[in-house]
Amino acid sequence: MTEQKSTNITWHKPLVTQADREKRNRHKGTVLWLTGLPSSGKSTLAHEVERRLFEKGCNSYVLDGDNIRHGLNKNLGFSPEDRKENIRRIGEVARLFADAGVIAITAFISPYREDREQARALNRQDRFIEVYCKCSVNECEKRDAKGLWQKARKGELKEFTGVSAPYEEPETPEIVIETDKCDLEECAQHIMGYLEEKGFVPPTPSIQKR
Ligand code: ADX
Repeated sequence: MTEQKSTNITWHKPLVTQADREKRNRHKGTVLWLTGLPSSGKSTLAHEVERRLFEKGCNSYVLDGDNIRHGLNKNLGFSPEDRKENIRRIGEVARLFADAGVIAITAFISPYREDREQARALNRQDRFIEVYCKCSVNECEKRDAKGLWQKARKGELKEFTGVSAPYEEPETPEIVIETDKCDLEECAQHIMGYLEEKGFVPPTPSIQKR
């Protein structure tokens, strides 16, 4: 548990609620939590889903591991403790986004089950959708867009997930996307279909037959 250092603080109840915002937005605020090995396709998929949501008129925003580590989390490395803090902060930020009525799409390795569960627990039960981007180590290693798998194999990069640091697979994610079996179009459609089916976003009108 993170220590509560600040004292004499009082929760201020907002006048505008999540429900008010959702009514105006005509979609729900939620967290779409993508998790998976490095190079499993989390960021690519997150941005594609964000684009599709944007085109549908929905408010969404991608929180991406590499990007967030340039700013908010620049003081964190890749030890288990730092990854824990990384995920704790992002869990909190994603919850704020969802509360603001936004569909927050997070793309972090988030390798530890316990840390992901903590992020889930921060959110409303029905507003946290864990998406496991399932991809074999072989395929991730073959893609290796940033050359990090190769570096890690050569021992030039320590604590690399999948090589010298663990990845704990989700046990009961809401969605499993096999990014090594389906193309980007199918993967993105799978998530969009889920969001529509569960009523997070309005359905796409089907083309009327004459
Ligand atoms: S997490 O484990 O704390 O969730 P996060 O998603 O923020 O990781 O950052 C992962 C990104 O950092 C990778 O996409 C990769 O580009 C970069 N990276 C640098 N070093 C490592 C490492 N040792 N293990 C994993 N990713 C690393």
